[in-house]
Amino acid sequence: MRIGILTGGGDCPGINPAIKGVVYKALSYGDEIVGIEEGWKGLIEGKSRNLSLGDVEDIINVGGTILFTSRTNPFKIEGGVERVIGNLKKLKIDALVAIGGDDTLGVAMRLSKLNIPVVGVPKTMDNDLSGTDFTFGFDTSVEVAVDALERLRDTARSHKRIIVLEVMGREAGWVALYTGIAGGADWTLVPEEKPDFEKMFVYLKKTYNRKGYALVVVSEGIALGNSEEREIDQFGHALLQRKGVCQFVGELIEKNTGISVRSAVIGHIQRGGPPTVFDRILALRAGVKAVEMIHKGEFGRMAALAGNKIISVPLEDAVGRLKLVSSDWLELLEVLKA
Ligand code: F6P
Repeated sequence: MRIGILTGGGDCPGINPAIKGVVYKALSYGDEIVGIEEGWKGLIEGKSRNLSLGDVEDIINVGGTILFTSRTNPFKIEGGVERVIGNLKKLKIDALVAIGGDDTLGVAMRLSKLNIPVVGVPKTMDNDLSGTDFTFGFDTSVEVAVDALERLRDTARSHKRIIVLEVMGREAGWVALYTGIAGGADWTLVPEEKPDFEKMFVYLKKTYNRKGYALVVVSEGIALGNSEEREIDQFGHALLQRKGVCQFVGELIEKNTGISVRSAVIGHIQRGGPPTVFDRILALRAGVKAVEMIHKGEFGRMAALAGNKIISVPLEDAVGRLKLVSSDWLELLEVLKA
């Protein structure tokens, strides 16, 4: 077979191990692998190169994606879908592996309904994809964010300040939740819960009076109550980095507590660097599974983590319905407010 592979949406650590898994498994079947560059954009433009063992054997520990990525939606570009289908034919691709999150796999699902033989591999640092217990990229991002929070603790303690750390995650609060819990934040704000700022000020003052500093983790996606127009991408997502959540929350805390506050945005640092062991193994297994699925003719489906097993689930179960932080997690956050 000739198997095409592309990576779309925001990059994250673990994509390269997934590519490695796809290529190794495909080679074991005697398949050829065509790497499409820059996600769906590359398929619209016909940008590709063959992938060999040498391209992937040493990428297990490399962050980012060797295939490049874009946030292109062929369904939003005139003639985009026709060009995707035309280029798949031109490149003689028998089956396609799409590595991505909700957006990229949403396109994959729509293409599979047009009889394009496609399988999905779930990735995203946001961990907000349904149908799988975890997505690779998340574990690494949280490790990086926890490291940042611990560094902030040292300086917050020395200067007797409150420090606010903003993490990514879009509409889902998983990164903030895990960072807040694992990094020992005093208050964590996630988009799934309307912020109770008054309660937070009281708690932070109490904590500060006890230990002389405090740490707050805030997710970029929390509601601030202001509805100004924002730039959006081809999948309809607002560019949250420009929202200024961290600055806003920091200033609010300083004004209402009278305590000196600093704000830090970790931003894209969370998306780079070597994947953790968890992400490497999960990604590689998902890549291998995707090729097995292709050989069994299981199209329109995605390799997913269920417990410790990699299974195949319909793409429909994964896309269009974000996996958000549930109430039991919010209750756990409450327990940590002593
Ligand atoms: O979806 C992954 C993610 O990192 C989000 O957490 C964040 O809001 C967004 O991508 C940032 O996108 P970009 O890299 O295009 O600025």
